[in-house]
Amino acid sequence: MHAITAANLHNAYGGESMAHMRYKTWGDVAKQEGLPNVARLFRAIAAAEVIHANSHFKAMKEQAGDWLCTSMAVFGIGASSQNLQGAINGETYEITEMYPTFLETAKLQGEKGAQLSFHYALASEKTHAALFQKAKAALDSTKHDAPLGAVHICDVCGWTVEGDIPDVCPVCGAKRDKFTSFA
Ligand SMILES: [Fe+2]
Ligand SMILES: [Fe+2]
Repeated sequence: MHAITAANLHNAYGGESMAHMRYKTWGDVAKQEGLPNVARLFRAIAAAEVIHANSHFKAMKEQAGDWLCTSMAVFGIGASSQNLQGAINGETYEITEMYPTFLETAKLQGEKGAQLSFHYALASEKTHAALFQKAKAALDSTKHDAPLGAVHICDVCGWTVEGDIPDVCPVCGAKRDKFTSFA
């Protein structure tokens, strides 16, 4: 594998792994604050980040060895409104900077596996940013838990949707039985 795409996969793996952990921590905070829907949203999206981390890990299956990972990570534990802003910041970085450049580099280098993995993550993070933004707006304006329908995660690509599960995932084409629900 080309060195730059390999480094991008290592770093994206690190970034997704840390996002998973921080959403679990922020989900616990929301639960303690009496915000079960915000807690559930963090839990669902934490699970989606695991799908991306695994996908990146598998794209590097030929690469045994030890690597240094450097990733943007949002730190801090505040009230849920602040934590949601941290989540929005992290997702926005991934959507606007990290995955578009990683994806273009993988295309340029003809790295098909990495390309697919970055494409899945980029498409999913857009749904995450939107869900976090909606939850934060509701929480900030009402000071009560955000309204939230069932949240469904595509087990193949991590695409995330609130409400009904589509017949096929719009990103990867997986059938509806491939979704995990957080209701
Ligand atoms: Fe995400
Ligand atoms: Fe999918």
